[in-house]
Amino acid sequence: MAFTYFFRDLQTLEMICEYALPELRARRYINIWDAGCAMGPEPYTLAMLLRERIGHMYFRNIRIQATDIDGSDLFDEIITNAAYPKDQVERIPQEIFKKYFVPDEQDGYFKLIDEIKRVVKFQKHDLLSLLPVAHDFGLILCKNVLLHFNESQRIEVIKMFHSALMDGGFLTMEQTQKLPKQIENMFEPVVSNAQLYRKVVK
Ligand SMILES: C[S@@+](CC[C@H](N)C(=O)[O-])C[C@H]1O[C@@H](n2cnc3c(N)ncnc32)[C@H](O)[C@@H]1O
Repeated sequence: MAFTYFFRDLQTLEMICEYALPELRARRYINIWDAGCAMGPEPYTLAMLLRERIGHMYFRNIRIQATDIDGSDLFDEIITNAAYPKDQVERIPQEIFKKYFVPDEQDGYFKLIDEIKRVVKFQKHDLLSLLPVAHDFGLILCKNVLLHFNESQRIEVIKMFHSALMDGGFLTMEQTQKLPKQIENMFEPVVSNAQLYRKVVK
């Protein structure tokens, strides 16, 4: 199973809400690609944080396309069910947990409410195919995935993200993942203390 957990790297997710969300909200829909989403805690955490910041009405205009190579062939079912065992939901802040989770019929499991569940859709996808799952994304999130690739693969995948983003769209990676020098000019940093970038169009 891939390593991931709810509320991982909250600082970066909050940067998205603070710096990217106000610009993205100017559009009717916000399309997000979570590339390398594992079993779903990351896209669902982002969905809950976005729901906290925007009203019920506008939240319906958010779409999170969650993709993973998923060697286990289990992620689709897990993400679609959105039910997680107690030990995986324990680190979620209580007020968020109480608002967005309900006990599942499976003993010891808790399920995300439909409002959150419906914005996240899973698709199996290999990033090294270099084929974007769609275009015109406002935000692409790719965390703790690129470190598994060699430098030339990282460069090609990030170029593919650039082509999949709308003009001015945002890209975010984990704190330790810097943009390779060769493609630095394709993005501009949005903040100095997080790997949050804006697509530059020449
Ligand atoms: C450490 S997990 C990161 C999960 C989540 N993004 C996070 O930060 O918590 C890495 C994920 O990358 C996925 N992955 C590895 N190679 C991939 C590829 N070529 N295409 C798509 N996903 C890939 C793995 O299946 C795994 O779920």
